[in-house]
Amino acid sequence: MENDQHKTVAFESVLNKAVSRRRVIQSGGAIGATSFLGGASTLAMSATQATYLMGFDPIPTSTADEIQLPSGYHYEVLVAWGDPIIKGAPKFSVSNSADDQAGQFGDNTDGMSIFHLQTKQGGLDENRAVMAVNSEYINKEFMHTHQGKNMSADDVKKEIVAHGVNIFEVKKNKKGSWKVNKNSPLNRRLHGDADEFIMTGPVTGHPLVQTAMDRSGSKIRGTLNNCGNGQTPWGTYITCEENFNGYFGAPEATPLNDEQRAYGLSETGFDYNWWPHEDRFNLAKHPNEANRFGWIVEIDPLDPSSKAMKRSALGRFKHENAAITLAPNGHAVVYMGDDERGEFIYKFVSKETYKENDRAHNMRLLEEGTLYAAKFNDNGSGEWIELSFGKNGLTPANGFKDQAYILVYARIAARFVGATSMDRPEWVACHPSSPMVFCTLTNNKYRGERDSQPVNAANPREKNPFGHIIRWVPENRDHSAQRFGWDLFAMAGNPNTQTGLMAGSENISADNMFNSPDGLAFDADGRLWIQTDGNYKNEGIFEGQGNNQMLCADPVTGHIRRFLVGPKECEITGCTFANDQRTLFIGVQHPGVGWPNAEKDGVPRSAVVAIRKDDGGIIGS
Ligand code: FEO
Ligand code: CA
Ligand code: CA
Repeated sequence: MENDQHKTVAFESVLNKAVSRRRVIQSGGAIGATSFLGGASTLAMSATQATYLMGFDPIPTSTADEIQLPSGYHYEVLVAWGDPIIKGAPKFSVSNSADDQAGQFGDNTDGMSIFHLQTKQGGLDENRAVMAVNSEYINKEFMHTHQGKNMSADDVKKEIVAHGVNIFEVKKNKKGSWKVNKNSPLNRRLHGDADEFIMTGPVTGHPLVQTAMDRSGSKIRGTLNNCGNGQTPWGTYITCEENFNGYFGAPEATPLNDEQRAYGLSETGFDYNWWPHEDRFNLAKHPNEANRFGWIVEIDPLDPSSKAMKRSALGRFKHENAAITLAPNGHAVVYMGDDERGEFIYKFVSKETYKENDRAHNMRLLEEGTLYAAKFNDNGSGEWIELSFGKNGLTPANGFKDQAYILVYARIAARFVGATSMDRPEWVACHPSSPMVFCTLTNNKYRGERDSQPVNAANPREKNPFGHIIRWVPENRDHSAQRFGWDLFAMAGNPNTQTGLMAGSENISADNMFNSPDGLAFDADGRLWIQTDGNYKNEGIFEGQGNNQMLCADPVTGHIRRFLVGPKECEITGCTFANDQRTLFIGVQHPGVGWPNAEKDGVPRSAVVAIRKDDGGIIGS
């Protein structure tokens, strides 16, 4: 295996190799992200960074049914689907009822954040924390004793409450192992049937979100398809509602309008078939219920009596995650991807500014602000196009009736103003100490085949089965600025079986190749962690890539090393670090039945695992 510890990969050569094959960007290096960072001086500095950022030996690919880690690392399962996290909840059994599930960890773990508690002296408690973890969707075939073939009303309710957010206290024992404290008064489930969601911002009370059950248009039942996450500087948790459309359905021949179709709503949905049991999911009877999903939701994880807030100012789409940072002028900036082929990357800038030590004020920052969609020009420059009523043609004459309409149908507005359609924007991550922002573009089978998805420099492959990672830097290092420079950080590919652009960029080798980058996060030292959700068949164009995995990258030099490989069938998603960076929590979503560590009674269970170094050192160092 090649060890790249002492080799540096100049970022510009990554970019040039990726794009020169198509001769798309002729002058990207002059305008793109590297020039906004200060060009060569930043890259020169990074040559030494590369060696100290990643101190582990990269691991080979694997098709085994077990988690693989570098030597000197081990893992433990922290919590799996069905484990009780609320006092009094029963142990996991496939025959658990909806009530049982409402006190247990939900299905299909995804984005997560850790919030350390305070010690009595007022400092951070390194050994006690609250975790907030998303449960994205359900595996019907494993959730019921009848594999979903004979659904009762309680079975439907069980599926609904297996979605949402899990909040629970964790404690680290003397051996360094984290354990769930299932009796903590801080624990709660904010699930798909919880009557604890309040809408805030411009859409609140608008006719588009009024329903028979809620004439106020502000009190929402549940959160669904909780995919990635965010963690605010003021200590709240963000959960992101992604493929909400799949839960809705309607009798045959129910007419659906263009707005509904723009969000993928259909008569059958994703075959959850909740609507015959739960009226609110019936599009024919309650068309506005679907407008109450697809939002960014802010939760105070330390106050179990608090309501969760659906932040309408940040727009409605298939939210993957939310990367939150503060601009130099104090405005909170939230970068967000809309995970669907040909959709867009968005940015929200708060109206008010962050105030140190005023949590109540900061908790209102996401109520009001400006939403933008990204345009990536072929020359490496980019701009944020404002999605505000009256601006950029978003007027009644063009069908945009008011700001609430623009936010509920943000996709339609972004497309209208000429934002760049992307290869499925998944997670966005902001570097902890520089203005760099990264976004995974997981894959796209059809780019170039549809009029609305032309091939462009930011999405240079006509068919993109491997995905890529884009990077941008705002003008003047100011995240509230309207212009930015961008470049491509990595084009995933297969240098063994493919040639040209499909082989991948220069920082992709036979030793670190992967497909479908999805989860993305920085640790406090600036290591970029990449998680995959892709083809794990290890054959054809994906031969040699193995199971889904997690990689670590130097965000400046472009070095990428494989850190973890998951068990068969799973996707690796969700990532949070304990404050001391000595425990890394990740999610193993939808593993197969053969992974022994979370299987019970023949049922595979998604699980959060805690990864530590045998010597207790900093993860990745
Ligand atoms: Fe929930 Fe786009 O992944
Ligand atoms: Ca994802
Ligand atoms: Ca994905």
